[in-house]
Amino acid sequence: MNKKIRVLVLMGGKSSEHDVSIASGTEILKNLDTKKYNVLPVIISKDGTKWILTDSKSLLKRKNIISKEVTDKDIVLRSSKYIEGVGNASIKSVDVVFIAMHGKHGEDGNVQGMLELTGIPYTGSGVLASAIGMDKEIFRKLLVPQNLKIPKFVTLHANEKYPNFKKKLGSFPYFVKPVNGGSSVGASLARNQKELDESIKLAFNYDDRVLVDEYIRGLEVTCAVIGNDNPIALPVVEIRPLKGEFFDYESKYTESGSEEIVPARISKGISEKIKKMAIDVYKAIGCKGFGRVDFILKNNKYPVVLEINTIPGMTPTSLLPKAAKAEGISYSQLVDKIIEYATEKN
Ligand SMILES: Nc1ncnc2c1ncn2[C@@H]1O[C@H](COP(=O)(O)OP(=O)(O)O)[C@@H](O)[C@H]1O
Ligand SMILES: [Mg+2]
Repeated sequence: MNKKIRVLVLMGGKSSEHDVSIASGTEILKNLDTKKYNVLPVIISKDGTKWILTDSKSLLKRKNIISKEVTDKDIVLRSSKYIEGVGNASIKSVDVVFIAMHGKHGEDGNVQGMLELTGIPYTGSGVLASAIGMDKEIFRKLLVPQNLKIPKFVTLHANEKYPNFKKKLGSFPYFVKPVNGGSSVGASLARNQKELDESIKLAFNYDDRVLVDEYIRGLEVTCAVIGNDNPIALPVVEIRPLKGEFFDYESKYTESGSEEIVPARISKGISEKIKKMAIDVYKAIGCKGFGRVDFILKNNKYPVVLEINTIPGMTPTSLLPKAAKAEGISYSQLVDKIIEYATEKN
């Protein structure tokens, strides 16, 4: 029998998406075939300083992983032992690292860079594509020369005078979000000047650059892409937030917070166009392994690119696993593929 592949599943970390990351990691862990893999779950603490090796059993026992109340104490599991550093023997014997981290430090190229130094293969995009994908402003700038449609937007820098929004974006409403963000944290809709002031203030709590977008009305869709040099697009998913006004944190992570329909109820022509755009976006920034491009269909017809997620959510209710399922790829098969892409890349 072939030797089992040792997979270190890395989750948590210093990001506003810490909890979501643990939920993704836990689900990945559940679906890694133990006949094929030896799994080492590692949780990085919220302050980013502790790397805690835990075991699958204690992790799977955790309930209500996604809550805003999770504290540092919760994530230091009793059965844990510390990994002392990158050069540590227990890390060296790992065949591949599955990065189940979203947002700052995990999805932005930092962990990827650290793993490049160790020479251990890891899932998903490399340093540059991860960094670009995390920076919604730079990301957008790279799409313009390729005629990939993006919203009209203005970038605000902390302590700088605001421009004339009306001149640049047209009239209200606008959509405001931090340049580096995720899971809709710090994002909000502004229907008038008072709301705009509040939205900008909120977004600046998360970053020192803020995007003010024209508000795009229409159906929200997302398209996952998998693969390395010849990536393929999975079926387009239609998103209908049931709770908030847009696809906010609550609609994303509470049950019945939103309805997701795969394949999206759109014409074949529009769906093919979205898939092609998603692949173009993926290639434009050099993604590897897997990714997910978010769109709004302006007036339910014209796809406008919102952003790319280089490590899309992998929780039980996440969009990528749903899209894969619609293509006949089970969650376990999906993680197998992502791991294969990781080892093929190096
Ligand atoms: N320009 C926009 N017009 C309308 N809605 C938007 C716009 N930008 C973002 N949104 C809404 O906010 C959500 C989060 O924005 P997104 O750019 O995908 O960032 P993230 O998911 O990283 O927080 C989107 O899913 C969408 O519902
Ligand atoms: Mg998004």
